Amino acid sequence: MLSALFIATLGALASATEVQIVGRAQTSFPPGVIATGTMGPNNPPEPTLGTAINQTSMARLLTANTVDDWCIFAPPTPEVIGNSETYEVAYCTKPRNNARLIPDGTISGVSFLKTDFYVQIIGFGDLTKINIPYGDYGGELDPHGAYGSGNPIGGNVTSNITGSDQHFTEWMLYVSYQQFCFRICTNANSTYSAEYMCWHELDEVGCQFVMPGNYNINGTFESCEADVAYPPGWYPTATVNGVPQFSTFAQRYTGTLSNGQVYTVGDTVTPPAPYFTPSSSNCVKASTIANGVPYNQLGISGSGPSVPAQTGSGAGASGPSATGSSGASQPTKSNNGAAAQGVKTEMVLVGFWAVIAALGGIVMFA
Ligand SMILES: *[C@@H]1O[C@H](CO)[C@@H](O)[C@H](O)[C@H]1NC(C)=O
Ligand SMILES: *[C@@H]1O[C@H](CO)[C@@H](O)[C@H](O)[C@H]1NC(C)=O
Ligand SMILES: *[C@@H]1O[C@H](CO)[C@@H](O)[C@H](O)[C@H]1NC(C)=O
Ligand SMILES: *[C@@H]1O[C@H](CO)[C@@H](O)[C@H](O)[C@H]1NC(C)=O
Ligand SMILES: *[C@@H]1O[C@H](CO)[C@@H](O)[C@H](O)[C@H]1NC(C)=O
Repeated sequence: MLSALFIATLGALASATEVQIVGRAQTSFPPGVIATGTMGPNNPPEPTLGTAINQTSMARLLTANTVDDWCIFAPPTPEVIGNSETYEVAYCTKPRNNARLIPDGTISGVSFLKTDFYVQIIGFGDLTKINIPYGDYGGELDPHGAYGSGNPIGGNVTSNITGSDQHFTEWMLYVSYQQFCFRICTNANSTYSAEYMCWHELDEVGCQFVMPGNYNINGTFESCEADVAYPPGWYPTATVNGVPQFSTFAQRYTGTLSNGQVYTVGDTVTPPAPYFTPSSSNCVKASTIANGVPYNQLGISGSGPSVPAQTGSGAGASGPSATGSSGASQPTKSNNGAAAQGVKTEMVLVGFWAVIAALGGIVMFA
């Protein structure tokens, strides 16, 4: 709560708008944004900086606060993401949350984005140092999961991006051996729910499709504000009485019912790119991020076994690759790369209308 003195100080500084914004923590949130459940069994009750480093920790509390204060999930011992989704553990850039530490020298580039609806981190690095085997194109983690209690089970996330530590319900993390992208949905309105803005059913299209942003950051560290992207797979089609209409893309999926019957859902053609990449502003660059603890001081086992690029766990963070689980035609790497480099809206639209024609049917949101 703001003290009277602090409020008086803010009043005196009324011309310094940044001070006012920084000083005001958001206290009410739209429905579906703030997590109200219990914490995962291994997690501290609240995000906590400065906890003891514990490289055998099973804690699963992620925090994403700043370009150098964040966590991601990775396997407890070397294993592909696709096999360890339910029991991955938290690795953080700083000692916090009773979690494991990401050693210095692991991360080679980060773009941290703050928007009105989410906080997003795009990162590059040698994630074999946190037990992701070389060549594992990884997969997607979220609070839903096959058991309804999250992938990993008991995984929780917080951010202080709204002015104080808050537990958020919806998030998505794509991670591979060399790249990750992580979004926590911190807001909602009647157009965008937190669940749709952190939509978790597009695990084969990769970071650049699901979380548009600046992917040309390997080797640099930046922290920016950015406009809000459309929710993953949403494409605006028209505006009716001032209300935007969207078509949505659903990933192709073939499954088997308990009676053995095979079924297929989703679209046959994957759009080549998100509708647009939101522009960013107020970027601050940093030369590196560090916690002072190098890899060789942590006493952890070292790079895991290398695995073939096609793990069957989905294309995950690094973009498409052929997997056995989908009949969809996948966008190529160069298409995804083009999106990161800022394809003009018109070009994407042309591609998209071709896609609609091919689909012959799309879901409309009223
Ligand atoms: C923690 O994660 C579990 C599993 O996803 C979820 O059921 C619970 O609501 C979360 N609690 C908080 C406070 O985030
Ligand atoms: C490290 O984490 C493991 C697993 O969560 C726990 O059993 C152990 O007590 C922790 N060690 C310390 C020193 O906290
Ligand atoms: C959020 O966390 C960062 C990094 O730990 C810290 O520097 C900053 O003061 C925190 N902001 C708020 C509003 O608590
Ligand atoms: C919800 O927020 C988005 C992004 O700022 C905006 O474009 C949209 O108009 C908002 N919807 C409503 C109903 O205010
Ligand atoms: C990121 O940069 C590092 C250091 O130059 C390099 O080893 C790594 O291969 C790059 N990652 C990607 C995905 O290009």
